[in-house]
Amino acid sequence: MNKQILLAARPVGFPKESDFRLMETPVPPPNDGEFRVKILWLSLDPYMRGRMSDAPSYAPPVQLGEVMTGGAAGVVEESKHPNYQTGDFVTGNFGWQQFAVSDGRGTMKVDPSLAPLSAYLGVLGMTGVTAYFGLLDIGQLKDGESVVVSGAAGAVGSIAGQIAKIKGCPVVGIAGDAAKIHYVVNVLGFDAAFNYKTEPDYSQRIGELCPQGVDVYFDNVGGAITDAVFAHINKHARIVVCGQISQYNLDKPEVGPRLLGQLIKKQARAEGFLVYQFASRYKEAITHIAQWLKDGKIKYCEQAAEGIESAPGAFIGMLNGANTGKQLVRIA
Ligand SMILES: NC(=O)c1ccc[n+]([C@@H]2O[C@H](COP(=O)([O-])OP(=O)(O)OC[C@H]3O[C@@H](n4cnc5c(N)ncnc54)[C@H](OP(=O)(O)O)[C@@H]3O)[C@@H](O)[C@H]2O)c1
Repeated sequence: MNKQILLAARPVGFPKESDFRLMETPVPPPNDGEFRVKILWLSLDPYMRGRMSDAPSYAPPVQLGEVMTGGAAGVVEESKHPNYQTGDFVTGNFGWQQFAVSDGRGTMKVDPSLAPLSAYLGVLGMTGVTAYFGLLDIGQLKDGESVVVSGAAGAVGSIAGQIAKIKGCPVVGIAGDAAKIHYVVNVLGFDAAFNYKTEPDYSQRIGELCPQGVDVYFDNVGGAITDAVFAHINKHARIVVCGQISQYNLDKPEVGPRLLGQLIKKQARAEGFLVYQFASRYKEAITHIAQWLKDGKIKYCEQAAEGIESAPGAFIGMLNGANTGKQLVRIA
């Protein structure tokens, strides 16, 4: 049987376990032109919160009673597809379930002898690639510029900060836990970091930690943290609007200070992006990140919940900051 996690209800505010439902269906057979994957790893990502809502977005919502959407990695068990053989390792949008049938669209073969399979969902997958293009293309980072990364200990932020270090930049991280602050500074090599949950005055702290101002702000969180960074941007700064996780579980959007005047004064640019806009260049990012991993210039960590049944709890935990690095579920 195939255990699947379905969307049972559209969350109001923070998702709850009862917004999800476990179902068992027979393991599906592949038809001609398809293959069946046994899923080994599931990626949990903040964007999934958006898919649970039916508010208009850049991608259609998961329907009630549908399998939750999600990137996953697994092994081909049975194939009637000319390009996929039994035993091939693949990533794709296979959803929150133990087995999936695919026609190969949006899937990629990966080599687990080069890196652990799980890494293709994180540092060598969507989140690593997001950090790379966000910082270097959207952020147009130049060597030595001053960088601030929010969500610094997470999957995207931890890689963005390390790429900035590779470019010789002073990097300040912001995260919500003392152990995360220790991790980004002492393990990942950020120059400084602070805990926004215990810091009474974000703006003052950013001023202290970035006496030279902020040239590139890699924003994963939005809200009051971002408001505070805006006050310290330099002339021609770039604000990389990658994520706004502080807003994802709010029923009503927060009303913040009007910050656009700061863009005028500093002739600065704030630009949002979706990693998918760089799809034709993923290979470039993965090649660079793989080399940095090999050279020991990038470190990563993963946190894995066990079993498909644990996915809803681990997803809610990730939204609450329970993860350091990439949040995964080990399915098999
Ligand atoms: N634009 C794109 O194409 C793209 C692609 C991938 C991801 N993203 C975005 O990038 C961001 C990071 O994604 P990720 O996959 O790397 O997730 P992640 O950072 O690994 O996990 C989410 C983290 O968000 C932090 N957080 C939760 N609520 C917060 C709040 N109210 N204020 C500040 N921080 C909060 C928590 O860390 P703390 O303990 O530090 O609070 C939590 O660990 C998300 O906003 C995501 O939507 C965008």
